[in-house]
Amino acid sequence: MSRETYYRDHWVDIEPDRLDRYEEQFAWSAGKDRLLEPADIAAGHKVADYGCGPGFVSVELARRVGAGGHVHAFDINSDFVARTRQRVADEGIAERVDVTHLQGDVLPLGENALDRLVVKNVMLYVDDPLASFAEFRRVVKPGGKVHAIDSDFYMTAFDPVTPEDWRVLLDAALPAFRTPEIGRKMYGLARRAGFSDVAVRVIAVPDTMGRMLNLVRNLAGYARESGTHDEATVQRVVDVATRAVADGDFFALNPQFLVTATV
Ligand SMILES: C[S@@+](CC[C@H](N)C(=O)[O-])C[C@H]1O[C@@H](n2cnc3c(N)ncnc32)[C@H](O)[C@@H]1O
Repeated sequence: MSRETYYRDHWVDIEPDRLDRYEEQFAWSAGKDRLLEPADIAAGHKVADYGCGPGFVSVELARRVGAGGHVHAFDINSDFVARTRQRVADEGIAERVDVTHLQGDVLPLGENALDRLVVKNVMLYVDDPLASFAEFRRVVKPGGKVHAIDSDFYMTAFDPVTPEDWRVLLDAALPAFRTPEIGRKMYGLARRAGFSDVAVRVIAVPDTMGRMLNLVRNLAGYARESGTHDEATVQRVVDVATRAVADGDFFALNPQFLVTATV
């Protein structure tokens, strides 16, 4: 894979073990409801799930819009497209959700087609985040909302991994992200894209289950793919984090930035 386009290529072509980790990492739980709250999704809404991954968000959106609404799910990875189709079929809501394998950054939707567009943990990876916000604005009708949820990797922590080692891991994994600090940037980007109102909220809930260990393993994989990493440090981070989760004395935080932009 080319270093320049790795941030996109590693999604088009995902290793099987990372694909499986996402099933665990992105599974929905009641605690995540607050991430969708500001989107104010109601029965009958037409909603897009941009970068649907394994489909957990699509299922939640389909529940909220009900039988009278519709969800358009999009992803650039064909396995995720298949998994999302299977998931909504298993949930008995396939008629409410269509899933499209996206080939570029332009949505196959007309202007004002949607009431809401949700984009969760995807803005880190898009080619041009400002152009994406503008594209989202095009397909959402006046008064509708674009709701973006994302991390800012330079605001994450995993104690007792030292800040120095954590930074080495992040820096080595950098080619995997187009904009690793997207969390802090989304408010300004949405303003520049011309939305009439932009609300921002940050939710920082410490991970007490050790789910962030999957993120650590993914970051280590990205660092190794980059080929310029310091293996001793990367392995130390994985070992320290794994041991601390087993011992139950870790503190892991990955704040989520919620930007709700009204068209
Ligand atoms: C971290 S996962 C998040 C999945 C899902 N939104 C969730 O929160 O459960 C990122 C997803 O974005 C997709 N993705 C990455 N770049 C994309 C792009 N430019 N356009 C659309 N989807 C993209 C990936 O294939 C992957 O499914």
